[in-house]
Amino acid sequence: MSLIERLRSREARTAVIGLGYVGLPLAVELARAGYHAVGIDLNTDKVQRVGAGESYIKDVPSDELKKFVSSGHLVASTDFAVLETCDTVNICVPTPLRKTRDPDISYIVAAVEEIRKYIHPQMLVVLESTTYPGTTEEVILPLLERDDFHVGEEFFLAFSPERVDPGNPRFTTKNIPKVVGGVTPRCTEVASELYSAALATIVPVSSARVAETVKLLENTFRSVNIGLVNEIALMCNKMDIDVWEVIRAASTKPFGFLPFFPGPGLGGHCIPIDPFYLSWKAKLAGFEARFIELAGQINGSMPEYVVTRVGEALNMHRKALNGSRVLVLGVSYKSNIDDVRESPALDVMRLLKRHGAEVVYHDSFANREDPELEHAAVEAVDLTPETLAGCDCAVVITGHGGVDYASVLEHVPVVVDTRNVYEGIRSDKIVRL
Ligand SMILES: NC(=O)c1ccc[n+]([C@@H]2O[C@H](COP(=O)([O-])OP(=O)(O)OC[C@H]3O[C@@H](n4cnc5c(N)ncnc54)[C@H](O)[C@@H]3O)[C@@H](O)[C@H]2O)c1
Repeated sequence: MSLIERLRSREARTAVIGLGYVGLPLAVELARAGYHAVGIDLNTDKVQRVGAGESYIKDVPSDELKKFVSSGHLVASTDFAVLETCDTVNICVPTPLRKTRDPDISYIVAAVEEIRKYIHPQMLVVLESTTYPGTTEEVILPLLERDDFHVGEEFFLAFSPERVDPGNPRFTTKNIPKVVGGVTPRCTEVASELYSAALATIVPVSSARVAETVKLLENTFRSVNIGLVNEIALMCNKMDIDVWEVIRAASTKPFGFLPFFPGPGLGGHCIPIDPFYLSWKAKLAGFEARFIELAGQINGSMPEYVVTRVGEALNMHRKALNGSRVLVLGVSYKSNIDDVRESPALDVMRLLKRHGAEVVYHDSFANREDPELEHAAVEAVDLTPETLAGCDCAVVITGHGGVDYASVLEHVPVVVDTRNVYEGIRSDKIVRL
């Protein structure tokens, strides 16, 4: 039976390498589609928790996970040898930047080295990790192809960018359209067949290179537009214009305008990082990606700007940053999720401390034991009237639901609002970005 037939009949056995924010939801969707899915991760804790049907990703309810684990459709392992019996494998490992801002694709290479040991005829390999154009063809293909083992014939290779938006209840792994670009047309066809069983909409493109660039365009688009609106916010502050009111009114234009909002800087593992994968590769081709660099500079300067505004807010009350107690509200990188990776709150807290402020934070979503938060060495507090009254200033970095912002405003002398959580509220105590 061909791979396409095995995929259609759901007899195909699927694997996902990397059980994080991207990989675990994907493995669940593959199991839901009726495939046998095996999740592989080096992290034994994650593997054990998946095996016990216990989810550590907010968008994957444990009940759901348990259902597929109990029915035997989903298993987890640290052993790559399971690939021997799998027909497909999706790679969902991290793609960070090195300190020099160069792409670090070592996790991809490590995963492919393992696949190489177990790859067999009619196997499909799909890379989902965000990466620079050419990775699939220039890095993965040479590791897998041999003289007697050709892509598009003996095995299939494709890139399909992951677009998951953690915490978004409307758009999930299942209903976000999936772009698929194979190294050959046959590879695109086979990879599309895998996804079409599990996901709502498939968007085939002509090559892996195009699919890789699609993802980078999407995230560069966000980074550049956020950079633009951050610059407009800085400009409006100089001219004493309320940038939030400007954006709200501009958003009433029914065409040709898409609202983006200023904030304390970029966070997460995508928007601050992915554009530099593109500019790095462009540089190799002799092209300077100016918008990416400029947006990176503006967005990267926002935490420092926020700290300046906190200093100004305290100054209005005849206080200095040095020695003031500052409450940081929201430390994850966006609303209503627990992920603190690359969060601008970490920079803001570090800078506040460097200026001598005594910093505390509140975040009911973030895990207090997260290594990045532990490294920040900032005390977590509950929002009681007493703790609030003991603060000289609060700064809203991430606007989570379930926070009593009215109580914050009542008890803290001044609040710097970088997210417009106090929209429509007039008070001398509010300093807006
Ligand atoms: N998180 C998002 O919102 C998001 C959205 C779109 C795309 N992406 C991209 O998807 C990729 C994965 O991101 P994530 O957020 O899921 O990362 P993550 O850190 O949550 O998960 C990655 C997992 O891979 C595991 N891992 C690392 N190396 C491994 C190896 N060699 N073998 C097996 N497992 C290994 C880690 O233990 C971890 O569990 C990245 O390229 C990221 O840029 C992420």
